Amino acid sequence: MLLRLNAVALCLAASLSVGSAQTFRRLGTCPTLGCVLPPDQQDFLPGQEFDIRFEIHAPKNGSEAFNDGVPDEEFTATIAKDGEQAKSIADFFKVEEPKVEKWTFSWYEDLFAQDAKTPSVVNVASKAYRRVALYEPGTYTVTLNYYSGKTTTATWTVRPLATQKKAKNVIFFIGDGMTTNMITAARLLAHKTINGKYQTTLAMDKFPVLGHQMSHSIDSFITDSANSASALYTGHKSTVNAMGVYADSSPDPMDDPKVETIVELLHRIWGSAWGAVSTAFIADATPIALTGHTRLRARYGDLINQALNGVQNYSWTRTDGPDAYFGGGAEQFIPGSGSYQGKDFYAEFAKKGYSVSLNKTSLLGLPNNQKALGIFCRSNLPVWLDRNIFKDYLSTLTNDPSGANRSATDLPGLKEMTLKAIDILHERGGKKGFFLMSEAASIDKQMHSLDYDRALGDLLELDDTIGATIEKLKSLGILEDTLIVVSADHGHGFDVFGSSDTKYFNAQTDDRAKRNAIGVYEQSGLSQYTEPKPGVSYGTGANFPLNWDPRYVLAAGAGANPDHRESYGVDKTPRTPARTGADGSYYVNPADQPNGFVVNGTLPTSESQGVHSLTDVPVYAMGPCQADFGGTYSNIDVFYKMANCLGLAQPKNITHGGHGNCKRHE
Ligand SMILES: *[C@@H]1O[C@H](CO)[C@@H](O)[C@H](O)[C@H]1NC(C)=O
Ligand SMILES: *[C@@H]1O[C@H](CO)[C@@H](O)[C@H](O)[C@H]1NC(C)=O
Ligand SMILES: *[C@@H]1O[C@H](CO)[C@@H](O)[C@H](O)[C@H]1NC(C)=O
Ligand SMILES: *[C@@H]1O[C@H](CO)[C@@H](O)[C@H](O)[C@H]1NC(C)=O
Ligand SMILES: *[C@@H]1O[C@H](CO)[C@@H](O)[C@H](O)[C@H]1NC(C)=O
Ligand SMILES: *[C@@H]1O[C@H](CO)[C@@H](O)[C@H](O)[C@H]1NC(C)=O
Ligand SMILES: [Zn+2]
Repeated sequence: MLLRLNAVALCLAASLSVGSAQTFRRLGTCPTLGCVLPPDQQDFLPGQEFDIRFEIHAPKNGSEAFNDGVPDEEFTATIAKDGEQAKSIADFFKVEEPKVEKWTFSWYEDLFAQDAKTPSVVNVASKAYRRVALYEPGTYTVTLNYYSGKTTTATWTVRPLATQKKAKNVIFFIGDGMTTNMITAARLLAHKTINGKYQTTLAMDKFPVLGHQMSHSIDSFITDSANSASALYTGHKSTVNAMGVYADSSPDPMDDPKVETIVELLHRIWGSAWGAVSTAFIADATPIALTGHTRLRARYGDLINQALNGVQNYSWTRTDGPDAYFGGGAEQFIPGSGSYQGKDFYAEFAKKGYSVSLNKTSLLGLPNNQKALGIFCRSNLPVWLDRNIFKDYLSTLTNDPSGANRSATDLPGLKEMTLKAIDILHERGGKKGFFLMSEAASIDKQMHSLDYDRALGDLLELDDTIGATIEKLKSLGILEDTLIVVSADHGHGFDVFGSSDTKYFNAQTDDRAKRNAIGVYEQSGLSQYTEPKPGVSYGTGANFPLNWDPRYVLAAGAGANPDHRESYGVDKTPRTPARTGADGSYYVNPADQPNGFVVNGTLPTSESQGVHSLTDVPVYAMGPCQADFGGTYSNIDVFYKMANCLGLAQPKNITHGGHGNCKRHE
């Protein structure tokens, strides 16, 4: 053994408490010096493929300094099922013993260390066992032995789940950042009450089953969209910025231990069709996490390549690519610095049989029997409010998806993209069914910039899309075979607390006087958004406000914000609440709502926008297995509930491939 154990260091390490580093962590899932990934308390679907990684940490300096920074390379690991005899990992999974990998990383122990620029340096020895699976339900104990006598154990649970399909299709709507508070506010905007009685309600309001899911990360209580999408699609919690992996400490963000996603499983086991639709750029976390495996969500080019061609450099199950893929984000398709290896990804998709469309007219004309890619702009799709009400803004953008120096004007919305995707997936999935994820991304994006009207407009677009989807499924005769789930990936701390009289507000010159325009309790009145504006018809249909710009507007706010000005009421262009000052931190943007009063920030001065919040988010369900979605549960349970309904569990390795030779029950 190379190991030089040092009694003093041992004592020091033993005295460290697990929660010692809150702001920064050496590796979030690994409080000791021996790391097991997947870590303790993880759940698995029977037959779901995953990688295992062990890491032995030897901190060279800092409060945990150990063994002169020399990691144990002779570590061993075993696995045992429920009281059965423990076997080595290689024997148990019948895989080859991998080589030891070594690297060094550093981290800050707290904000003082960051200010002083004194990172703690950690040397690592590691092994990764790639692409294994556990088939039998039960409890498994993984034991890592290192530094002659130290152990880390992880308990893994393989859930007893169904191998029979109960739903032919699943449509999963995600309102990114959408909370019950926002749904309540959107209902008030678009649906009229008379003497306390709503005359119409949201499509979501009509769902028979409602549950709550907890969105927190594996190693923090606030999640981002990569991390939470990963939990929803894989049944495994993850770390901020990570998807389809457990984050490790290695330098390469693409080599982290992977877990199989719902569309990879569905393709491998049933050969079903799948699609993703988003109003974000399509490489953004929520759509891309269906196929993405990285701890760094910003690897956009790699992630689009993974969606089409599968994971590179490691043997991994792949889906043959989506059958329908619609959204924004031309940056990853136009050849150049944003695309994988600088390639033309429109051409890469076309080579694999995709019909490619770059505008709404062409989208609506796509054949239903062919795989389809539709990229309608650079960056995110302009939001519903700008596409439908404040259209002048669109021509100020340079976002044409071809890369030409002009604005994209023939844009579809979430509804057109979703309904077209259903036509394609229904035809291509045939008897094997389909999975579709449809994301209203800018609920989140506009909440970040405190642009509540734009966020709620996109929430109403989502609701309108859900209603239209139900009608579409009825007309195709597949409503009864389709599980529809509507949920969110996390929240923002937004709520409405009254109304504001914009006329009185704008007549005041003093910040404190402006605040007296806000009507609370009985002074809040009723929504004027549902009263037609004289001489104006937006023509946007029954599910949207008749007046976006009334005298009495919602008074609303968020719990987390940078310095900004607030005047309530709708903006004709998207908001930029804060901007950088001379010191590089964020201050009120004087050009944003210049007539508003100053609201000082509640966030670090390095944040230009609002941030996500802790709240549980709603889960609405309709169709086969709907009853399973009632109650309060973790975000990973959304995956297990959908996987159970789709019969994705495998009692043994009976993979037949997703190319039409599936022997399993439909
Ligand atoms: C650890 O050592 C590195 C140099 O290898 C140094 O930059 C860093 O400040 C040291 N950290 C601490 C906490 O002493
Ligand atoms: C399952 O069986 C297939 C075909 O024999 C094989 O290629 C694959 O590696 C196996 N999967 C696992 C996780 O052992
Ligand atoms: C695959 O490995 C090659 C060679 O090590 C490397 O250059 C490339 O970046 C890797 N690709 C990905 C997607 O990790
Ligand atoms: C839409 O795309 C089609 C096919 O690429 C093209 O022929 C047509 O000119 C485009 N329409 C607009 C309005 O850009
Ligand atoms: C794009 O077009 C505008 C005018 O239409 C011009 O001012 C601008 O320089 C062009 N940008 C590029 C990068 O060509
Ligand atoms: C309040 O906001 C203003 C404008 O950004 C800024 O100048 C001031 O420093 C802020 N006050 C505090 C206490 O952060
Ligand atoms: Zn967000």
